[in-house]
Amino acid sequence: MSAESKILVVDDELVVIKSAERVLKSEGYQIEGALGGREAILKMEQGTYDLVFTDLKMPEVDGITLIRWIKKSRPNIGIVIITGYPSQDTMKEAIELGIIDYVPKPFTPSVLLDVTKRAVEWAEGRKPSEEKAVAEEFPPAMAKELDRVIREYRQRPGCLIPVLQRAQEIVGFLPPVVQKRIAKGLNMPEAEVHSVVSFYSFFTMKPRGDHNVRVCLGTACYVKGIEGVLAKIKDQLKIDIGETTEDRKFSIEGVRCLGACGLAPVMMIDQETYGALTPSKALKIISQYGGPASGQSPEEETAAVAEQEG
Ligand code: FES
Repeated sequence: MSAESKILVVDDELVVIKSAERVLKSEGYQIEGALGGREAILKMEQGTYDLVFTDLKMPEVDGITLIRWIKKSRPNIGIVIITGYPSQDTMKEAIELGIIDYVPKPFTPSVLLDVTKRAVEWAEGRKPSEEKAVAEEFPPAMAKELDRVIREYRQRPGCLIPVLQRAQEIVGFLPPVVQKRIAKGLNMPEAEVHSVVSFYSFFTMKPRGDHNVRVCLGTACYVKGIEGVLAKIKDQLKIDIGETTEDRKFSIEGVRCLGACGLAPVMMIDQETYGALTPSKALKIISQYGGPASGQSPEEETAAVAEQEG
């Protein structure tokens, strides 16, 4: 993560700018705010920024107009949108314009930091070493099969998502080298392919372990204490979000909503959903998949659950 990355947060609500600023500054990012598209353009004309996080619905100069201006006048700036409930058309337009990712409003600190980390990596053209290795070792047989899929789907409307799904089945994940090959094969911008991969949580850019632990970082789960659960899982598996254990048994993924808010806080392991989690309950479930035991006695676990449930 780069502390030097300079981010401009654009929103017509000061409270959104302030809360993004509070979260991102605590991680060392340099943040400036602009109360709308017009002010953002003025700031970009006078200063340099690595990323712009922008709302879509704003008076006068709205988000889409701002994105168009950035793409034309400052094409090196990465764009992330922060928005409430975007219409499919608006989202499609933003993706076609080449946004990197989006943050749903209201956002939780974890979601904002997770998206920012990925956006900074993308903007800086960084590739985690594991992905570099894959880029170098992309086996010719896989490349051949991928090219065959691209040729098969190329003429069909809306072919990007099915091609990405097939690519993920073939390669196991979607590192930049695979995204680039798909973009070239389908004759579309790499940024558009990357936006779609980032937008849908079922696509992954990193190799996953045998069991994928998907922890919901959405608002309902956040309010019910998912951060404490996540901290314990990370601690127990000794990995962070987006990483895989050394033995390749487990990966942790942070997602924005698992569609089971009534059961919050929630996680999924592979296809199974687990709700009403406490830290110790989560560890117990993970141990049933062959994960490290929590190390707590049954009495300690009961006490921890009681404490969590308050
Ligand atoms: S917010 Fe967690 S399941 Fe919806």
